[in-house]
Amino acid sequence: MGSAVGLGNVWRYPYITGQYGGAAFILLYIGCVLAVGVPLMIAEFLIGRKTQLNPVGAFRKLRPGSPWVVTGWLGIVSAFTILSYYAVVGGWVLHYVYLSLINSFAGKSTEQVTDIFISMNVNPDLQIFWLAIFMFVTIVIVSKGVSGGLEAGNKIMMPLLFALLIVLSIYALQTSGAASGLEFLLRPQWQKIGPTAVLEALGQALFSLSLGMGTMITYGSYLSRRSNLVSSTFFIAAGDTLVAVLAGFVVFPLAFSFGLEPGAGPGLIFRTLPIAFAQLPGGYWVALGFFILLSFAAITSSISLLEVASAYFIDEQGWSRSRAGWTLGSAIFLLGIPSAIGEQFLGVMDALSTNYLLPIGALLIAVFTGWALTHNERIDEFSANDVTAVRLAVWSFLIRFVTPVALILIFLHQVRLF
Ligand code: PFF
Repeated sequence: MGSAVGLGNVWRYPYITGQYGGAAFILLYIGCVLAVGVPLMIAEFLIGRKTQLNPVGAFRKLRPGSPWVVTGWLGIVSAFTILSYYAVVGGWVLHYVYLSLINSFAGKSTEQVTDIFISMNVNPDLQIFWLAIFMFVTIVIVSKGVSGGLEAGNKIMMPLLFALLIVLSIYALQTSGAASGLEFLLRPQWQKIGPTAVLEALGQALFSLSLGMGTMITYGSYLSRRSNLVSSTFFIAAGDTLVAVLAGFVVFPLAFSFGLEPGAGPGLIFRTLPIAFAQLPGGYWVALGFFILLSFAAITSSISLLEVASAYFIDEQGWSRSRAGWTLGSAIFLLGIPSAIGEQFLGVMDALSTNYLLPIGALLIAVFTGWALTHNERIDEFSANDVTAVRLAVWSFLIRFVTPVALILIFLHQVRLF
């Protein structure tokens, strides 16, 4: 849940939903979570727990000497690509923690709040500075392997973030634009939905659930045999989707109330939420609390991204945890600099990962689980307590047919083959 809930839910989901027509997009998104996300998460957990290895090692162990190992490599490439720009947006959030701390939003108008975002966006030095801080925190956590403390923190911070989003949505639903915001979120505008929106919904589902690159294989490798893969998957998918949908119920009523375009792009939450914070009673503390909780959610996701790459170098190349964290983290920091300098580059990295790398990775993992593994290999990880035979049969069907076919169709469209 720590890996799944992050900027994908609170930053990316509202702005993509805003660009692709609200309610219709949400329905598509939920469809992708159920048809592709849930079966794939079970598959990744299965591969990870079965092998107790990083993604490269896992494919090598299950099918030695076969090209399937490429799937693991692809995951490492995706981790590098995603974390490079994820950390830039994580840096924005840290900057907003600082801005909240010095009470920058009080009494500001919509235009002034937008100006705050723009002045950060056109300032590469500032963004590189916060990118460095964000990567530094991520590296220190991964290189020290302090997952215990983090897990304990997560159990408090996640419910708090959730509770705060509920409070904010109650507030947002009382502002003047609530009716338009709700209409946008609840009345599907199917004419805005085309094949590109389907691909975006799929990419967003994979991104938000941390799928298609071996994160959940890596985390699955740390799971004990006693944990229930199926109920964990449902818990994570439901929690993750709920946080995203809630974020929408905060952002869109506010956007309509304050005259902002729902399709305003990656700055959407940074341009809407502070206006509400400026007007809320106790807004100073709400702003500070919100951006601290969001930073925490972002960090628990970024460590999972760095962990994927590190686990390979630790397991397979014999690197120490600290060498892996610092070397790979520094390389990712350098790769993030162009995204901090230009939002266009950030957009390219984002599209590359969510439209290509994650769907291809997801397809390979689905085909591997559904077709390369034997029936027994596929089901011997589950005990009768985990899942009933019927549910297992449904999952097998989904991972063998529905998930790959959905991915192939969407992907073929993307490369303009039909
Ligand atoms: N799921 C994370 C989020 O929604 O913020 C981002 C992410 C983490 C994507 C790990 C992919 C990943 F492997």
